[in-house]
Amino acid sequence: MSLDDPVIAVDIPSDAPAAVDETESQAQPAVLANGLPPRFCCFVTGTDTEIGKTLVSSAMLHALVKAGVRACGMKPVAAGAELRDGEWHNDDCDQLAAAGNVHLLPTITTPFLLKEPAAPHIAAALEGVVISPVPILAAYVEINAASDAVVVEGVGGFRVPLNDEFDTADLAEQLDLPVVLVVGLRLGCISHALLTVEAIEARGLTVIGWVANETQADMAFADENVAALAQRIDAPLLGRIPRLQQPSAEAAAAHIDFTELPNWPTQNKL
Ligand SMILES: Nc1ncnc2c1ncn2[C@@H]1O[C@H](COP(=O)(O)OP(=O)(O)OP(=O)(O)O)[C@@H](O)[C@H]1O
Ligand SMILES: [Mg+2]
Repeated sequence: MSLDDPVIAVDIPSDAPAAVDETESQAQPAVLANGLPPRFCCFVTGTDTEIGKTLVSSAMLHALVKAGVRACGMKPVAAGAELRDGEWHNDDCDQLAAAGNVHLLPTITTPFLLKEPAAPHIAAALEGVVISPVPILAAYVEINAASDAVVVEGVGGFRVPLNDEFDTADLAEQLDLPVVLVVGLRLGCISHALLTVEAIEARGLTVIGWVANETQADMAFADENVAALAQRIDAPLLGRIPRLQQPSAEAAAAHIDFTELPNWPTQNKL
């Protein structure tokens, strides 16, 4: 990765407002006192692995692109890659890239792409790699410079080790990002969610919203679980995604109202 690596492409949908023109776009949030528009950036974490972080991150990117802003996803550390057409691919990275409209080199959006689908510090050790925050922070600066909105997807739950001294909670803290929590609705999710909120707040970070995701169909007492969480999490419930026949960014986005999020670029907030 190099800070000099170029931006490869920016796609703006034809039905979007002229959002890349920051002086004219209706989708731009109000201007701050320092003359800069507020930017939407967040860190997406979850109660566990495989509970919908990528789905929600992609839905968020989809909604941002629809609002006409330059939106980029980042998956700083991804474990599990396959070689296709001479390039290593990870599903999460591919989904985030497809949902966003700012396309940077994969080495920027994912500074640590590891081959083994295992806990990142284990996958890294297998390759003789030590995951360190410096390339991630440098890449984030570059993504920020090329985009109006950045969605960073964590790895697994909130406290997944990245090396012997550093975990994903430390990464969120160093990036200093507000956090969106995805709760995979399943037995045990209430405690997982509340512990995660505690860990986020213990780092001085803010939970700006949470999403209930029905990763399994027909969970018993799903409504009661959501109600118990809503009562205890001091952040807006942004939406509840049902079990989708064909999960996609667009389908998931239809069940989430992101406009409650601070700095979300909607005309309503102008
Ligand atoms: N509401 C849903 N309906 C149907 N399928 C879903 C739903 N939510 C997630 N899935 C599916 O479950 C799988 C895991 O979701 P996803 O990849 O978003 O999880 P994750 O938390 O990002 O996992 P990881 O920890 O590996 O990054 C995916 O195949 C996804 O399409
Ligand atoms: Mg994921």
